[in-house]
Amino acid sequence: MLNAEKVFEPQGFSQIGDDHIVKYEETFGAHHYERINMVVRQSEGCWLTDINGKKYFDCLAAYSAANPGHHHPKIVKAVVDALNNNYGSVISNVVYTDSLGLFLKRAAEFAPQLAPRFGKNGNKVLPKNGGVESVETAIKAARYYGWKSKGIPDGKQEIIVFKNNFHGRMTTVISFSTTQKYKQGFGPLTPGFVAVEYGNIAEVEKAINKNTCGILVEPMQGEGGMNVPPEGFLKGLRELSDKNDLILLFDEIQVGLGRTGKRFAFEHENVIPDGLILGKAISGGVLPLSVFITNSYLMDLIFKQGSDGSTFGGYPLACVAGIAALDVIENENLAEKSAIQGANLKKRLEDIGKRSPHVKEVRGKGLFIGIEVKEGNAMEFCRKLLDLGILANDSHGHTIRISPPLIINDKEIDFLVEKMEKVLVG
Ligand SMILES: Cc1ncc(COP(=O)(O)O)c(C=O)c1O
Repeated sequence: MLNAEKVFEPQGFSQIGDDHIVKYEETFGAHHYERINMVVRQSEGCWLTDINGKKYFDCLAAYSAANPGHHHPKIVKAVVDALNNNYGSVISNVVYTDSLGLFLKRAAEFAPQLAPRFGKNGNKVLPKNGGVESVETAIKAARYYGWKSKGIPDGKQEIIVFKNNFHGRMTTVISFSTTQKYKQGFGPLTPGFVAVEYGNIAEVEKAINKNTCGILVEPMQGEGGMNVPPEGFLKGLRELSDKNDLILLFDEIQVGLGRTGKRFAFEHENVIPDGLILGKAISGGVLPLSVFITNSYLMDLIFKQGSDGSTFGGYPLACVAGIAALDVIENENLAEKSAIQGANLKKRLEDIGKRSPHVKEVRGKGLFIGIEVKEGNAMEFCRKLLDLGILANDSHGHTIRISPPLIINDKEIDFLVEKMEKVLVG
């Protein structure tokens, strides 16, 4: 079969034609994603390249995983050095590695003191391989705290979550999704969750009972439609958690690490969670890595030998990528860049929104921007954008997601705005 394949000049991993690649994915892969008809061969900074060398602006950044831009040279060097010098391969967490030790310290100190009501003990980090795994770690933490410290009978613990949440796709996490297609037919679902209106503190208060052990929330909802909660919402959650001795968990997998113009989205409201979940950009989009971070007191109370673990969680290659990515985020001021470029871009998109017959609302913070379209068919606009050299996708069907790498420059903003104008105004 390979003989029949069209041969192009080398561009990326293989020289096999796009039609074959699409056929292979359709034939041999699960159809679990709605696809945009594009085969990416290479990526660098904010740009993706197809087999003919045509460049597309990446307005998605892998849902925030590529915050520092694709193939950031410092992160790539860290990974390549590790492989070339024999300290990249998985060993086992039964022994110590310098890469894990250094990564844990870097990540623990990258966040402010979490759960300060338990004392200034520093933070501890539990690493995993992808966002949803760390969400599950956080759920375990809140449940264990509820049982051990609050005396809730094991099996009765409840966690409050929010409508339109997105925390990943594994069984426990889809159990409390309010999006039917994520969970239908995949039962039996995991009990112990109550979903209330996002942004509605009164509903949260009503949902608290003697078995409630925690609250799990995205400080801004990404997949739920690029939603920014009303001011005071996170503060309200903090107050309710303090009053009722609940573990407040922030899932910053998509909105953390500079995306919204601050290092963490919770800084917009000056609210400190008890547990923090990070993923995606924590390795600069080069390797899968995620973490659950909490106050050292809580981590030691909850996780004992044998109560958690992962073969690849915190393995050397991911750790060196993680250290390099956190260095890049800090040293290259990506949060500040996101705030400045995001404010500029949002203003210009709002201006387009005022003149467009299609735009219902432009919302967001930093480079986390959503353009909700009146017709509810954001993907149609994304397909038009692809023809103009921009990769974008929808959030929750009705909203065009604008979340480029945080290194976007003025010229690239001009390019993006010009194409958005064409698609939304004409
Ligand atoms: C807020 C949030 N939580 C969790 C996840 C799941 O992360 P992963 O796909 O790495 O499992 C995502 C992914 O988009 C996310 O946006």
